[in-house]
Amino acid sequence: MYCIDTYDLWERGLIPGADRMAKSEKSWEKRLAGGPDELTVGFVESLSIDKRLYKYDIVGSIAHAQMLAEQKLITKDELRQIKAGLIEISEEIAAGRFKFEKRYEDIHMAIEAALVEKIGRAGKKLHTGRSRNDQVAADVRLWMRDRIEILQAKITLLQKAFVKLAGRYSEDVMPAYTHLQRAQPIVIASYLLSFVEQFERDFVRLRNCRSLLNISPLGSGAVAGSTLPLDRKSTARQLGFSDISYSSIDAVGDRDFCAEFIFDCALIATHLSRLAEDWILYSSNEFGFVRIDDAYCTSSSMMPQKRNPDVLELIRGKTGMVYGSLMAILTILKGQPSGYNRDMQEDKTHIFAADDTVEACLDVACAIVSHTKFDTRKILIGLDEGFLDATALAEYLVGKGVPFREAHGIVGSLVAECEKQDRKLAEQSLDEFQECSTAIEADVYEYLGAAGVAGKYVTEGAAGPKQAKEQIAYWNKQLGQR
Ligand code: ARG
Repeated sequence: MYCIDTYDLWERGLIPGADRMAKSEKSWEKRLAGGPDELTVGFVESLSIDKRLYKYDIVGSIAHAQMLAEQKLITKDELRQIKAGLIEISEEIAAGRFKFEKRYEDIHMAIEAALVEKIGRAGKKLHTGRSRNDQVAADVRLWMRDRIEILQAKITLLQKAFVKLAGRYSEDVMPAYTHLQRAQPIVIASYLLSFVEQFERDFVRLRNCRSLLNISPLGSGAVAGSTLPLDRKSTARQLGFSDISYSSIDAVGDRDFCAEFIFDCALIATHLSRLAEDWILYSSNEFGFVRIDDAYCTSSSMMPQKRNPDVLELIRGKTGMVYGSLMAILTILKGQPSGYNRDMQEDKTHIFAADDTVEACLDVACAIVSHTKFDTRKILIGLDEGFLDATALAEYLVGKGVPFREAHGIVGSLVAECEKQDRKLAEQSLDEFQECSTAIEADVYEYLGAAGVAGKYVTEGAAGPKQAKEQIAYWNKQLGQR
């Protein structure tokens, strides 16, 4: 994906480097009287958080240096020194040998200071035509592009787990609920496939997010661009951006893509949380629909009989953290005047937290789905509770020429009568049915009983066995291409 050949170096074997952490001053120490207060140093630093951007910072710096050399703003030899120095630094960071010092504020300054310490004068030229404001905007975009691909891959794995599980239950019937009251019969597969649809939209949302964010802010400088002849398209091309940004002010002054990314994470968390809620209920004694594998349960320190669905509960609980990050990023952005403001630095806490949380939740959700079993025997025992076949009976009457509103009323009174007598609709005799409506004939019994009804759905996308099998085939093909 990256055009510069150095990208893969980060993951390679690592060369031991001398302990040479920068002692050099920050360039603006010439401007400010004395050093900053210790409190200020601790308060403004983001190094402890943004150090995870180091690969992207180095990749971006190499592309920038390459462009500076193409534009004759640095010599070829200086470029060579800068590249070699940056690669060494990246290897030191990866090996845990780099000393992160808070006085360097952020990952950008820490790396630049280390470079100057390592190669001297050439290192001082790296920041030509650049500000940390456009640098961080580029780093975060590069990081997010990668993270989106990883989250998409994990969503796909989860979808595949659902489709596989659905394949085992394409004929087994369960109740569908509305208002958490028994509504209509469905096959278990169609219930499972409903999640595949939700996660598909999450996948597409991430793809859209990636395409909007994939433009290069490099060359925007602090806020107004540069008087130097930078070739912005060169850095964009090298870094695999699809275009450059066209307003330097906006490029350094907005992080709407961070809000969008967190929103996408928040919806993934929402979908995972609803799944968790379902299965917490479904695994209870009261429902007894699913058995969560022991590997994803915990027990109680006091009650020896307990098998608690703690992993699912934590998926549900961690959603709160992702929503918190969404609220945080929106609030961080809303009051800022145009151009770059340091408030922006707070974005990273939240994009990292949302990403970490959602990634962990996707991993455990995928494992749980892959190991969950539905107790079809138990589901079947209770299947004829709750008049799941009532709507099908009303539609049967429509087929016999009864207007739907009348059919609805007829079935409503039949249900009320059955409830009084503690009987099912299918236990009514033909005479009893005909007392309510002469339109009812002997074939009515084909439409009664929850298990039979699911097979009678004819609409596309319905929750019957035929549609479920079609959907499984569709998803196998679709997801197989990812
Ligand atoms: N660490 C900062 C951020 O994340 C970038 C530094 C910009 N600082 C500055 N004084 N212009 O946004």
